[in-house]
Amino acid sequence: MRLLILGGTQFLGRAVARLAHAQGHDVTCAARAVSGRPVPGVRFVAVDRDHPAGLAPLDGERFDAMIDVTRRLDHARHAVASLADRVGHVGFVSSISVYPLAVPPGGTVADTPLLPPAPAEVVAPGPNFELYGELKVSIEREYAQAFERLFVCRAGLIIGPEDPSDRFPYWVRRLAAGGEVLAPGRPDVPVQVVDVADLAAWLLHAAATGLTGTYDGIGAAQPLEAVLRDVAVGVGAPGPALTWVPDEFLLAREVRPWSGVGSLPLWTGDSGFGGLLDRDARPALGSGLVTRPVAESARATLAWMTESPGAVKQGGLDPAEEARILREWHAAS
Ligand SMILES: NC(=O)c1ccc[n+]([C@@H]2O[C@H](COP(=O)([O-])OP(=O)(O)OC[C@H]3O[C@@H](n4cnc5c(N)ncnc54)[C@H](OP(=O)(O)O)[C@@H]3O)[C@@H](O)[C@H]2O)c1
Repeated sequence: MRLLILGGTQFLGRAVARLAHAQGHDVTCAARAVSGRPVPGVRFVAVDRDHPAGLAPLDGERFDAMIDVTRRLDHARHAVASLADRVGHVGFVSSISVYPLAVPPGGTVADTPLLPPAPAEVVAPGPNFELYGELKVSIEREYAQAFERLFVCRAGLIIGPEDPSDRFPYWVRRLAAGGEVLAPGRPDVPVQVVDVADLAAWLLHAAATGLTGTYDGIGAAQPLEAVLRDVAVGVGAPGPALTWVPDEFLLAREVRPWSGVGSLPLWTGDSGFGGLLDRDARPALGSGLVTRPVAESARATLAWMTESPGAVKQGGLDPAEEARILREWHAAS
């Protein structure tokens, strides 16, 4: 298959390129090489999608399939204008952020309402991801109008090597370090993740088999405790000493939910987005998505973090802060 990846210089795009190349496909990655580098052995074409004619270096070429990871509506519009009649199957990586935060658990694509599309004048998310979900809605619409053979993958939290976020890497680092671990909130809160290599394999499966339609790209929901224990197994530190500290206690100490410096990643605090991390994975799992155990993702992520420490985003709770909160929790309880 002749495959065009719009992106391919970081995390998911690189994983797709690496796997497609290994499977023997003829792969072209088109990006600026600002976020990162394309994988060795893969053809790279320098393009700048900020400009309407930025995809001109691909003029005259045809592709059996295209996969796009963009968050920008203008990038999608430029791709439609340049490539609409020269690509076969199209895979667009969207996000579960197209849904409102407070969706009920167990939802599917078919029964969950979407956010409204972004306001007409907005083409890119803000510096703090403002309108990210709305823009993914807009891009889905743009592509649905332009491409008949369209596979939309609304990815959930992606984990694995080369993760540019501090979310899953925090837990890999923390559980590998051992000792008493501050575990946030309740052990039974559902969490849903998908390994980057599994998502890449599914995107390629969709392109190769002509799968069309819209799917959530997620593995089955699991209790947070099971995820943390599985990470511990993967990093070779099984049976972690988890101390569960309630939401209110953490929020009162200004621990941030989800991600960032001073956060406990994957913890949703009291923000009520449990339903967004507890969606029905059966449509994806019944359509070719094969998921690996979290322990395997953790093992591979630790190997990458060890090999490339400079590439790992530091975030989450500082160890001294974690120890202080644990002391206060033991004193209070
Ligand atoms: N991480 C998660 O947990 C998560 C969850 C849900 C959904 N998602 C979605 O999953 C996808 C992840 O994709 P990803 O890991 O490959 O990362 P990404 O951050 O979406 O990558 C963007 C790609 O576009 C390229 N790009 C950016 N500006 C460009 C420009 N002006 N011209 C040409 N290329 C440009 C970048 O390359 P250069 O900068 O090198 O040009 C990069 O390869 C995204 O669609 C994201 O929204 C992620």
